[in-house]
Amino acid sequence: MDRWSREELVALAAQARQKAYAPYSGYTVGAALLAQSGRIYTGCNVENAVYPLSTCAERVAIVKAVSEGERKFAALAVVTENGGAPCGACRQTLREFGDDIIVLIADATGAYRETTVAELLPGSFSAADLN
Ligand code: THU
Repeated sequence: MDRWSREELVALAAQARQKAYAPYSGYTVGAALLAQSGRIYTGCNVENAVYPLSTCAERVAIVKAVSEGERKFAALAVVTENGGAPCGACRQTLREFGDDIIVLIADATGAYRETTVAELLPGSFSAADLN
């Protein structure tokens, strides 16, 4: 996995957003996670009538990828209507797999800002703290 397109990753996240199941909040989210294998895993938010059981788009993508054997990631794109940032739980879940992962935070027009897990979650707790 050498060269990859930020715009393509954002476009795949926007596509995944169309599958969002968000009847309660009405806030649809799509994610696309690029593994260092070159494969891309997408996710959308999946809500539940028992509200706390709702799952964020980013964590759906991460769980899909890890359950397929992936452990190393280059970048994650997340798309919402208004360019909302990933929640704290998703930041920590992503942090488990590295702090140099690029995060592209996009809105529905495709405009995005680029950051990293380290910037989104400074001073984070990780596996290293358990040793
Ligand atoms: N949501 C995500 O999918 N990702 C985030 O990082 C923030 C929030 C979802 C959860 C819920 O379905 C809806 O957005 C409103 O919180």
